[in-house]
Amino acid sequence: MSLLMHTLHVDLGERSYPVYIGRDLFSDSSLLAPHVTGSQVVIISNDTVAPLYVERVRAALGERSLITEVVLPDGEQFKTLETLATIFDRVLSSNHNRTTTFIAVGGGVVGDIAGFAAACYQRGVNFVQVPTTLLAQVDSSVGGKTAVNHPLGKNMIGAFYQPCAVLIDVNTLQSLPARELAAGLAEVVKYGLICDKPFYLWLQEAMPKLLAREEASLAEAIERSLINKAQVVAADEREGGLRAILNLGHTFGHAIETAQGYGKWLHGEAVATGMLLALRLSAQRGELAAADVENFKKLLQCMNLPVQAPEDMTPQIFLELMGRDKKVVDGRLRLVLLRAIGEACIVDDVSAAELHHFLGSLGT
Ligand code: NAD
Ligand code: GLY
Repeated sequence: MSLLMHTLHVDLGERSYPVYIGRDLFSDSSLLAPHVTGSQVVIISNDTVAPLYVERVRAALGERSLITEVVLPDGEQFKTLETLATIFDRVLSSNHNRTTTFIAVGGGVVGDIAGFAAACYQRGVNFVQVPTTLLAQVDSSVGGKTAVNHPLGKNMIGAFYQPCAVLIDVNTLQSLPARELAAGLAEVVKYGLICDKPFYLWLQEAMPKLLAREEASLAEAIERSLINKAQVVAADEREGGLRAILNLGHTFGHAIETAQGYGKWLHGEAVATGMLLALRLSAQRGELAAADVENFKKLLQCMNLPVQAPEDMTPQIFLELMGRDKKVVDGRLRLVLLRAIGEACIVDDVSAAELHHFLGSLGT
């Protein structure tokens, strides 16, 4: 039976939208259907998720004059301009007009690419997110960042484009591989680290239940993550400043993902290791207690997340790839560090020499 557990609102003026969190939400058409404004729909998914969930999403839409399913190959390596072009080929050849709603059904890869497609198609069409990984439920489906990768850098080509609704069915997490669940939990822990110490402490207690996929704990973790994310996004939608704190660990993590080849390390795994590096650097600079770093490392280990960068990642490789980060301004790298658990800061005074020395001291 359908159970709506929480409804949040992302407060962005005329671009505000609801986020529904619950169980069996696809069986309740009163949640999805009102946000699908026209009679034409494009459902974008991938060949893993589509057989599991697309039929249920279709059923929740009710009668529509034209529904096109675009099923992408599964994988971060397909988050490309080429895949985007195949979406436009399908949608145009099916004669979709600008009243069409695009619905993303899948993880962050599907959501990011479908959102970018929605932003571009006929200069922008209605867009709904139905995230099916924990990472997408707590992070990528909310906030309007959409993008594809380029061989020279992750998420380098994209747009800010908000969905008009986000439908989070926690049931979908039951079919998620354990490695993907852990990768999503990395982004959950991120919110505790950057701005919510009580949440961080709760997560330490709740981690066994979360790893066991206990429904109420998952729903609470998702809600508390998104309350934090929605506040940050409402304060700084286009990342003029504050929103960068959501990227704790990402500058290191994106370098790992890019160097290893997209898809080898999961995004959440790279972010987990990247966050540990950011905490270590914070401690080395005298900002954070060494005990906090150790405690976080133990939490990652209990989540089966990597705590060491790949051996072939030399300081030189890190520096080169981090230098291409979107947060670089006028040649200065900006990094998100911690002053304390629950208190992130953005610094721009970490020189290349300091970073090289730091990375070298880790033996990576
Ligand atoms: P993903 O989309 O690749 O999904 C992970 C895997 O799980 C895939 O194989 C997928 O097919 C499968 N899957 C999805 N849902 C499933 C389900 N319910 N049951 C079984 N299998 C399922 O990876 P992800 O971790 O969801 O997202 C990572 C992407 O998100 C990266 O490209 C990253 O850059 C992006 N991202 C974007 C933002 C943003 O703000 N837009 C934030 C964080 C991450
Ligand atoms: N995932 C980072 C952001 O949404 O800004």
